[in-house]
Amino acid sequence: MTNAFKSGSGDGELRRYPHLFIGGEWVAPADGGMVESIDPATGRPWAAVAFGGPKDIDRAVQAARDAFEGPWRRMPGWERAAILRRLAELYREFAPEMAVLETRDSGRAIRETRADIGAHHQWYHWFASLADKLSGRTIPIDDSVHCFTTRVPVGVVGAITPWNAPMLTTAWKLAPALAAGCTVVLKPAEQTPVTALELARLAHEAGVPPGVLNVVPGYGHDTGARLVAHPGVNKIAFTGEGSTAKVILRNGADTLKRFSFELGGKSPHIIFKDADLEQAVNAATSSAWSVCGQSCALGSRVLVERPVYDWVVAAFAERAAKVRVGLPLDEATHMGPQAHGEQLAKTLSYIDIGQQEGARLVTGGRRLDAGDLGDGYFVEPTVFANVSNDMRIAREEIFGPVASIIPFDGEDEAVALANDTSYGLAAGLWTGDTGRAHRVSARIEAGIVWVNTYRFIRWSTPYGGFKASGWGRENGIEALDNYLETRTTVISTTGRFPDAYAQ
Ligand code: NAI
Ligand code: MG
Repeated sequence: MTNAFKSGSGDGELRRYPHLFIGGEWVAPADGGMVESIDPATGRPWAAVAFGGPKDIDRAVQAARDAFEGPWRRMPGWERAAILRRLAELYREFAPEMAVLETRDSGRAIRETRADIGAHHQWYHWFASLADKLSGRTIPIDDSVHCFTTRVPVGVVGAITPWNAPMLTTAWKLAPALAAGCTVVLKPAEQTPVTALELARLAHEAGVPPGVLNVVPGYGHDTGARLVAHPGVNKIAFTGEGSTAKVILRNGADTLKRFSFELGGKSPHIIFKDADLEQAVNAATSSAWSVCGQSCALGSRVLVERPVYDWVVAAFAERAAKVRVGLPLDEATHMGPQAHGEQLAKTLSYIDIGQQEGARLVTGGRRLDAGDLGDGYFVEPTVFANVSNDMRIAREEIFGPVASIIPFDGEDEAVALANDTSYGLAAGLWTGDTGRAHRVSARIEAGIVWVNTYRFIRWSTPYGGFKASGWGRENGIEALDNYLETRTTVISTTGRFPDAYAQ
C-alpha cells in the first residue's frame, strides 16, 4: 500500500491527497484529476485532492460488490462489531486532528468541530453493539407452518454527503450501514473532501476488509450522478438539498434502488410567554448561528408569543453583539466563515430579500472583511424582526446565520405557523406549562420535537424529516431499516400441497 498522505511542510504548501481509496488500496483516479480544496477562512487552497470520475465509481462499486458477496455479509455480526469498535477507538484517538482538518476544509469554528467530532466514535460504538442483534420475528399462524422473518443487508450503499458537517453526516450513514452488513461507496461533497479520506485510512487500520468502504471524492453532477445511476448500487443514502434529491430520484429511477434522504428544514422554534425566557434565548440564538447557520436542524424561524416579542428581539440583538466572528482555528472564535463562496453569496442575497420584503433588519447583515478576515467568507450574525411567515426568508432554507423572528398570538396560531412550511425536520418549543408541552408537541409535523431544549441529537435518537425534509430516519435503531431488507420465510410442517386440478 502506498501512503496517500503527504502533509504540506510549510506555509503556502498544499496538503496533498493524490489517491482515491478503492478496494482497500490507494489508487490514482482513472478519469478524474487533482482539485484544490479551498480554506473558506482565507479563500485560498489549502489542500489538493484526487477527484474520481465515473470510471472510478465503476471500480469502487465493483470492489464494494465483491466485498459484499465475499466476506462481509457472511461474517458473524459480532466480528463486524469488533471491527467497528476498533474503528471507533481509532476515530476517538484521531478526533482532535480530524477536528482541525474539518475546520480547515469547512470553516466551522474549532470549538464546534472539536465537540462534534469528539463524539462521533459513539456512533460507531453504538451501531457496533447492534451488529449481532439484527433479529427477525416469528409469526404465529397455526400448526401447519412455521413462519419467521430474517433481516438481511440491502447490499452496496452509495453514501453522498454534504459540506456543512461532513464527518457527522458520514457517521450517520456508515455506522449503521456497516453494522447491517452492507458495503459502502462514499462520495463526500466537493467542497470538503479531505476528512473522508482520513476516515478511509482509519477504517483500513481498524481492519475493515478491502472493498467494504470505498471513498471517491468528486463532483455531484458526474461522479455523484454515476453512483446514483449505477445498477450495482442497491441503495443511496443522501444528505443535502431537496432539489438535488429530486434529480437523484430521477437518475436512480431506472434501477429502482432504495433511497433515504435528509433534506434540511425551516424549523420553528416556538417561545411561549410562560417560558424561562433566558434559557429559551440561549437555545434560540445558538441554534440560529451555530455552524455559521449551516445546519439542517437550525431553529431559523423563531416564533414568539406577542407579549414577550419585543423582549426576545432585544435579547437576540444583545446576544448577536457578543458573537465573536473570526478565524475558525482561533480558540476564541464562536463563528467561522460560511463554508464556501457560493453559500456566502446565497446568504447575502437572502439578507437583501428580507429587507425588500419589508422585514426589519435588527442587527447584522453585512459581510465581514476587515483585517484577517479580508479574503474569507465571513458574515455577521443577523436578526430579522417583524417577519411574516409568508416571506421568503421564513419559507426557504438560507443556510446562513440569519434568524427570522415572527410574532404569534396563542397556542393555535403557534401550531398553525409552525406547520405552515413545506419542511418537517425539527421543532423546538419553550413553555413552563407541562400540559401545553404535550399538547403542542403532539400537533407539530416534524420528525423531532424538542421541549425546553434544542438540537439534542444522539446516536440513539431517531432523526429525519416529515414532508419535504426527507425519507427515512437516521440514528436510533430505526436507522438500520435503511440498510436492511426483511425476508419472510414460511416452512410447511407437513409438506402437503393440494392438487388444484384434482376435480
Ligand atoms: P447539494 O445537495 O448540491 O450537495 C450535497 C451532495 O450531493 C454533495 O456531495 C454533492 O456533490 C452531491 N450531488 C450534487 N448533485 C448531485 C447529483 N446530481 N447526483 C448525485 N450527487 C449529487 O447541496 P449544495 O448545493 O452543496 O448546497 C445547497 C443548499 O442545500 C444549501 O444552501 C442548503 O440550503 C442545502 N443543504 C442542506 C443540507 C442538509 O444538511 N440537509 C446540507 C447541505 C446543503
Ligand atoms: Mg450543489
